[in-house]
Amino acid sequence: MKINKYVDIETLGSEAKKDYIDRHSPFIHTAATAKKGEKLEVKVVMGKEYKHPDDFDHYISTMELWDGETLLGRTEYAAGSQSNAPVNQEVSFFIVPSKNLKLIAQAVCTKHGLWQSDEVLVEVQ
Ligand SMILES: [Fe+2]
Repeated sequence: MKINKYVDIETLGSEAKKDYIDRHSPFIHTAATAKKGEKLEVKVVMGKEYKHPDDFDHYISTMELWDGETLLGRTEYAAGSQSNAPVNQEVSFFIVPSKNLKLIAQAVCTKHGLWQSDEVLVEVQ
């Protein structure tokens, strides 16, 4: 499966392209530093400025959190979980780090494929 990677939408010309890229991109929200052995919340949110539909034939079906090439967690959704309305779908993963993290989020749209976030580094002390 092709991996679509996030592009800074300020660099894009057309409104349609900005909407398309933004609503399919997972964004990672977490602390820049964490303590070894303590619980860390990593929130993944789809889109910043645009919402993705939740239609029966077009919805975000999977959201995943990776540390480099290691899968940390995955959540799966059914169509209609967001009331069939456009939404910035989100999930919180709670992990307990033992070393520095290189976090990447991936998400799957049932119509537009696999999408990957920028890397987010977390220093673990
Ligand atoms: Fe889509």
